[in-house]
Amino acid sequence: MRIPFARSFRGLFSPARRMREDWDERARKNARYFIDCGHGGSDEEFWRSGPRDVEDFVLEGLAVSPEAEVLEIGCGMGRLLRPMSERVARATGVDISGEMIARATQALADRPNVRLLRTDGDLPETPDASLDLVYSFVVFQHVPSRAAVSRYLAEAARVLRAGGVLRFQADGRPRNPLEPVDTWRGVRYTAAALAAELSPLGLDVADVVGEGSQYMRFTARRRADGRAATSAVRILERAWDPEALEALLARLGRPAAADRPRIESGAATLRGLSDGFLAARAADSASAFVTAAYRTFLGREPDPEGLAFYAREIETGTPRAHVVDCFLGSAELDRKLRPPRLTSSSLSA
Ligand SMILES: C[S@@+](CC[C@H](N)C(=O)[O-])C[C@H]1O[C@@H](n2cnc3c(N)ncnc32)[C@H](O)[C@@H]1O
Repeated sequence: MRIPFARSFRGLFSPARRMREDWDERARKNARYFIDCGHGGSDEEFWRSGPRDVEDFVLEGLAVSPEAEVLEIGCGMGRLLRPMSERVARATGVDISGEMIARATQALADRPNVRLLRTDGDLPETPDASLDLVYSFVVFQHVPSRAAVSRYLAEAARVLRAGGVLRFQADGRPRNPLEPVDTWRGVRYTAAALAAELSPLGLDVADVVGEGSQYMRFTARRRADGRAATSAVRILERAWDPEALEALLARLGRPAAADRPRIESGAATLRGLSDGFLAARAADSASAFVTAAYRTFLGREPDPEGLAFYAREIETGTPRAHVVDCFLGSAELDRKLRPPRLTSSSLSA
């Protein structure tokens, strides 16, 4: 029998233990589901989602050379690590859950350049300044402790070579004070708070996408401080496409010419300017809402698979704002609004 409050009481003193026990339990129950909610229906679907997320999230706007050495924080079953290992010289995955690491070890047994390690919250067996890229996707959003996230950021700064890149996702939505913080609903951040944390660690923010949404994506570069910088991972330069941005603002019913400079300067976020869309579409059927979201945010008709997926999500209780967050954090929208360019300055780390 479970003693009421025992879980939260134990977690109060040992968040690492609580994270491990909860994620071990999730791995035993249905690892695929808890890793990739919605896309983990079949084995095939699950593993197919890895290369897509690597392209659209981990490597979006980055140029990675085959000599790069990389590490994933919270690698789960190795869904992202497998395609990453095919692109780079050496890939390490760390995870709080031994059950996840056991599954990843089995799934990636055929990848000789992959190393998998259980962690207690640091980046074990990884020397200082030894990696070109550290990344993390859909992990910090589950971590219930800011101190635990801060430790990973400091560890990333430690293990990155000069000029190396940290790419991670954090939940940027405002917190509902009534919602509990646990090992599923973790900490939330503003972009400003994260930037303030990264800078003293020697990590300079190069890019933030999806600010204010669940899929806020940070890219930071390890300061060289006079050392020779690695060029194994380069950050592509991006600039707003004024026409594409104004077209999106107009579709959102915003005064495009007035809002464009506010977005470009960071005074306003696309997520903040999307509340009117959500309010206006609150009574739409799920499929009408998703169709409108595709047209408004992505400027196109929905594909049948995407329409069915998001409509099903809404019908099973996912808040509509989540769909907006997915589109605002998507590579498809970002590529339209800020097409990446490989320029001479992005080549010099
Ligand atoms: C939603 S899954 C994502 C896995 C992988 N990043 C992917 O996209 O396929 C979250 C993973 O983070 C791991 N995790 C949760 N808290 C963690 C922590 N504090 N440190 C390291 N890993 C953690 C979980 O065990 C789980 O494998």
